[in-house]
Amino acid sequence: MSPDHVTQLAEARELTLAVVGGLDDSDLDRVLDPVMSPIAWDLGHIAAFEDLWLVHEATGAPLLKDELSEVYDATLSPRRDRPALPWLRSGDAFTYLERVRERTLDSLAGPTPASDQIVELVIRHELQHLETILQTVQLARVGWEPDLPAPSDEVPPATAARGGLTMIEVEGGPFARGAGPKGFAYDNERPKHETEVASFQLAATPVLNGEWQDFIDQGGYRREDLWTEEGLEWLADSGVTAPGGWAEGGEWRAGSLEPLDPLRPAVHLNAHEAEAFARLHGARLPTEAEWEFAATTTAAKTADASRTTPGTSLGNGGGSANLDMLARGTRRIEAAEGPLAMIGDVWEWTASTFEPYPGFEWHPYRDYSEPHFGPEHRVLRGGSWATHQRVASATFRNWDLPVRRQIFSGVRIARDVD
Ligand code: AVJ
Ligand code: FE
Repeated sequence: MSPDHVTQLAEARELTLAVVGGLDDSDLDRVLDPVMSPIAWDLGHIAAFEDLWLVHEATGAPLLKDELSEVYDATLSPRRDRPALPWLRSGDAFTYLERVRERTLDSLAGPTPASDQIVELVIRHELQHLETILQTVQLARVGWEPDLPAPSDEVPPATAARGGLTMIEVEGGPFARGAGPKGFAYDNERPKHETEVASFQLAATPVLNGEWQDFIDQGGYRREDLWTEEGLEWLADSGVTAPGGWAEGGEWRAGSLEPLDPLRPAVHLNAHEAEAFARLHGARLPTEAEWEFAATTTAAKTADASRTTPGTSLGNGGGSANLDMLARGTRRIEAAEGPLAMIGDVWEWTASTFEPYPGFEWHPYRDYSEPHFGPEHRVLRGGSWATHQRVASATFRNWDLPVRRQIFSGVRIARDVD
């Protein structure tokens, strides 16, 4: 057993308790939004996942709460069914988390501990659910006062003449896409394989609030020519006329309503909005391959390298990327983040549907990625302010339905070169 892992499991848990400790108890046990789980379900699911992988699968011991395994299985109990299921209410969910952790520590110290890769999966799983919980908090616009360092009130000056419409030339070429065989990666990032992208242009930053306001002012939500058929359908059903977090007089930032800053990346946009914005500017969304190429090669590489190092503290780990929940929302992108600042602030929609890489093999269980492959899901890249740096990387593939705006998702446009 790696003693590091015991510490890191403890640190992730400390963060979980800080995140949910920022909520009113009454908000843990109710359905805050119909597309999300009750937060207490996420807590029980975190415990069940840990018990399954670090105890049951490692040692063969029966699950602590075998009777709830179906309730906490994300595939067998999809979000829409969860409210009616007998999930543990928050008090019992906290006890469940603690009791599983005792079993985990015994199992890790025992003769058949889980592998480092599986421990890493469990840590990252908990951290990913913290972002899910924050999406719920943000959607429901409930108060959130976590016991975390307060966000800095310092607002950095705008980066000189750089924004979501500033295009940077990316010279194409061959590259090896995905995660190599060593170390931890999710199954859908493997195997690493050769691919190639043509030269293209990529925006220097995700689209900023002020640029989104211009899109609105130019009739973006009314101009049918900008939208796909699917996009128009969503627009008619939803009646949306602004990004998800915008409210009268400001922008909702996890727990509080703040003045809208035109220089911060716009967030809570779906793939249809992303495409309409791109079309207004004679642009398109980058493909996943283009995105990863730009994030891992050329000038972007040096700028982003420091942002993807897994850290062990609750802090920002020295990287300048806006990750780790500390900023409580998007933030002005600084020059120090490099010409393309690709990780942090907002997830970026791509033009690509979620497909397996050639030679994909599921690991460690079939349902992590495989059932989600297919044309209905779009890939998002990069990570948001609510993503933990341990999870964020240039090869990480997130996915969701194109209509979804609960994610901390924004838009970075691309363009062909002639
Ligand atoms: C990769 C964010 C799409 O939330 O469904 C959590 C992560 N997988 N538990 C999701 C995940 C299993 C996953 N996303
Ligand atoms: Fe999960």
